[in-house]
Amino acid sequence: MDRGLAAPNQTLKMIPSFVVNLPKGSETGTYLALDLGGSNFRVCEVTLEGAGSSGAVSNVRMRQRKYVVSDDLKTGRGTDLFDFFADCVREFLVENGIHATDPAHNELVLGFTFSFPCSQTAINKGALMHWTKGFTASGVEGQDPVQLLQDAFHRKQLRVRVASLVNDTVGTLVAHAYQDPSTHLGIILGTGTNAAYVERIDRIPKWDGPIPASGKMIVNTEWGAFDQEGVVLPLTSYDSVLDRQSAHPHLQTYEKMVSGLYLGEVMRLVLADLASTGELFRGVSSTVLTTPYSIDTALMSRIERDHSAELADVRVVLEDLISIPKTSAEDRRIVKRVAELIGTRSARLAAAGVAAIVSKINRLDDCTVAIDGSLFEHYPHYANRMRDALREIVGIAADNILLVQARDGSGQGAALIAALADA
Ligand code: BGC
Repeated sequence: MDRGLAAPNQTLKMIPSFVVNLPKGSETGTYLALDLGGSNFRVCEVTLEGAGSSGAVSNVRMRQRKYVVSDDLKTGRGTDLFDFFADCVREFLVENGIHATDPAHNELVLGFTFSFPCSQTAINKGALMHWTKGFTASGVEGQDPVQLLQDAFHRKQLRVRVASLVNDTVGTLVAHAYQDPSTHLGIILGTGTNAAYVERIDRIPKWDGPIPASGKMIVNTEWGAFDQEGVVLPLTSYDSVLDRQSAHPHLQTYEKMVSGLYLGEVMRLVLADLASTGELFRGVSSTVLTTPYSIDTALMSRIERDHSAELADVRVVLEDLISIPKTSAEDRRIVKRVAELIGTRSARLAAAGVAAIVSKINRLDDCTVAIDGSLFEHYPHYANRMRDALREIVGIAADNILLVQARDGSGQGAALIAALADA
């Protein structure tokens, strides 16, 4: 982390987000947000209602719609991807009776959550360093995603101004701080993984911009890249195969051991190997088992959730969904154990990351960590496994570190940051 804060081009990119204030809770107004995460893409209208005179918790109202980004869009031409975003925004506005083409109405202000590593030069300006999470769309790497989106809005004659470029971790942190000021970390444990935190500006030697009055800056760590040089994390042969065959070899090493896009694939590689050596399924495999990325992490969750004596649901998963002709109770126990090991490794590595950041910012006495993402929300025992590991790493201080589920934060956060930038 210190190397990344000191100089550019380090493994941990430690990107200054240009967000120098957490919200006060009194911000108000209506903003649009566009949120491209990993699996989903959302358009939201966010209305900030402030805390009101009673000093109650700040209120946020949201209207939103999810769209699926097809594999063709993820891997095709960048302009098609950004035209698709603009089309979705138009559809959303029409559906909700919001005007965006009529010059008689004010321009709409939009916060853009773009959950990929972008170096930033302003709150609404940056460049995509490289794609992650299976995206490879052409003509986007090295470009400014804000400009690409703004151009798409122009092509579609939408009077929408992109006011902020926000990583989902930064959005999650800001949105949660709107309600709970002791929030100092925002984490995503979903298709991908990453963390952002509040850093003192004097601890960011590479920062050469103006010194903010707050003396602080939210930093996007891009921790998914941790150990890209492969010297710290104990990799298995399955991790190495996964990396070699991935869309981004040698990148995102930690992310590949932790996040939802990859856990099912690690599991598939292990099961395929054990089937090939005859240790599982009497040596019988299936086309599903030999097809990359055919096992979704959601299936692993299902396997871990089965506590029946005969592991009846594990049988359904293996025999009906993965097409293994016949499984024994012993096969199913082994499969469940493999899922437990991969899921636990992920949670423990994530906890190690949290412990590292909380220790670095000296907040072992009191820190709220806002966490969003399908893995943390839906994977069985995930949060508890993280808490157990935190206790092993920082001892009793783990009780002061609150890991809280934050939902829909990235869109709300982008709107809040657009509000802060617009003020
Ligand atoms: C990206 C991050 C993002 C994370 C979670 C990673 O692949 O590099 O920018 O925050 O996924 O969505």
